[in-house]
Amino acid sequence: MRLVSKLTLALFAVTCVLLAVDAWLRVEAELQFFRDDRALDHRRIGHALAHAAVGVRKSDGPAAAHKFIREANGREEELTITWLCDADSTEPLPPPVAACSELERLAPLSELTKIARDAHGTRRHFTFLPVVDGDARFGVIAVSEPTTDEERYAASVLRSSARSAVLTVVAFALVSFLLGVVLVGRPTGRLMQKARAVGRGEFDPPIRLRQRTRDELGALADEMNTMAAQLRDANERLTAESSARVDAIEQLRHADRLTTVGQLASGIAHELGTPLNVVELRASMIAAGDTDGPASREAARAIVDASDQMTRIIRQLMAFARRRTLERAAVDVSEVAGQVREMVAPLAAARGVSVVVRAPGVATADADGLELQQALTNLVMNAVQASPDGGEVEVDVAVVAQSASPPATSDATEWVRVRVRDDGQGIAPEHLAKVFDPFFTTKDVGQGTGLGLSIAYGIVQDHGGWTTVHSAPGEGTVFEIFVPTRPST
Ligand SMILES: Nc1ncnc2c1ncn2[C@@H]1O[C@H](COP(=O)(O)OP(=O)(O)OP(=O)(O)O)[C@@H](O)[C@H]1O
Ligand SMILES: [Mg+2]
Repeated sequence: MRLVSKLTLALFAVTCVLLAVDAWLRVEAELQFFRDDRALDHRRIGHALAHAAVGVRKSDGPAAAHKFIREANGREEELTITWLCDADSTEPLPPPVAACSELERLAPLSELTKIARDAHGTRRHFTFLPVVDGDARFGVIAVSEPTTDEERYAASVLRSSARSAVLTVVAFALVSFLLGVVLVGRPTGRLMQKARAVGRGEFDPPIRLRQRTRDELGALADEMNTMAAQLRDANERLTAESSARVDAIEQLRHADRLTTVGQLASGIAHELGTPLNVVELRASMIAAGDTDGPASREAARAIVDASDQMTRIIRQLMAFARRRTLERAAVDVSEVAGQVREMVAPLAAARGVSVVVRAPGVATADADGLELQQALTNLVMNAVQASPDGGEVEVDVAVVAQSASPPATSDATEWVRVRVRDDGQGIAPEHLAKVFDPFFTTKDVGQGTGLGLSIAYGIVQDHGGWTTVHSAPGEGTVFEIFVPTRPST
């Protein structure tokens, strides 16, 4: 329920209770006043009649006095006067007159008013008066009247109280609702909008509440503006820092790629040797005029093939070395492994090491192909460098179903796993925990920067995956990377 509705309802309930209590007290007071007034009338009439009855009793006896009262009774419609009890009557008393001693045993009857039901069950207002002459007491008369008037009066007072109470409550509820909407509802609505906007990262413009008074909501709006400004500054700092960090990482990766290209260069230069020889030989044959028409065409074709081969090698190397922006796509990791093998093979061959790729089929990952190629190249280069002459580096690509391991951030359940295994010297246990640290290297100065593995680790982590290493001295080394598969669309 909204705050304004709650406040209105609470005020409504409190007002209702207060007005009900007030109406009840007013009705009570009015009724008391009504009863007192009526009792006064009863006493006036009763005393006059009692006085007259005493005179009759003295002159004509109790029976005549009782008769006098009965006759006086008949003159009034609503008002009833009854000789209730007689003090010293020696003659039999006509009902309902009884001996006072008997009645007063039950309740003192002189100068008393009360509301009770009569023999017919009608509620009446009774006033009891002693019939006295000096010190002599002759009995008690009761003056009574039905309470119908009183009830009618009470009902009319109640009605008018209820009418004014309802009007007051409605007016009060309306005013409190309108005030609630203007003073609380609208400002809190705007504060909520502002909070949502800040949550979405929209820090401007600052919120300005319409009322200029310095109340709590105004203070809250000021605090929110300050908070939004601080968040905006922090956000800008964070964006700048993270873009600087991304730039730094990209520069580092680029530098690492150039280093790799440098390391691969000698092998590639060797690789280019064969097609260059072909070009040179065939071109010299054509130039010397040693070839006739068909032979010239054959030589030209050989030159074209050799040039294609060289172009492919150089293009691959240039693509590997160039700067680029990251792009995730469906990448066949088996193909990437093949490209890596092709790039590293000349260097490996120069060291007497063979690189074998085992990829049973297409293994599609959600990845940046060139980044993945860089990570894999670093692993394969390390394996080649660690392998003995005549060794074999095995690159195994597979799709595996398993849950993620730390520090993976993807919640994928299916992964492309690339396992790079060599039968080299292995890694010493004390080095194993450090191999992924930037600048950790066991190679001689100028031989390695110590960045290769940390960059491979970072690239795999950027893809939401993870990297593992298993190695023991003399038993070779196995590196594994896991990147999420890409569901086929
Ligand atoms: N396959 C492996 N066999 C044995 N040791 C390895 C292997 N791969 C990595 N290492 C060890 O981990 C260290 C760190 O490797 P990393 O690739 O990060 O740097 P590097 O190879 O020394 O230098 P760079 O990669 O810049 O040429 C290596 O110096 C080496 O001691
Ligand atoms: Mg390395």
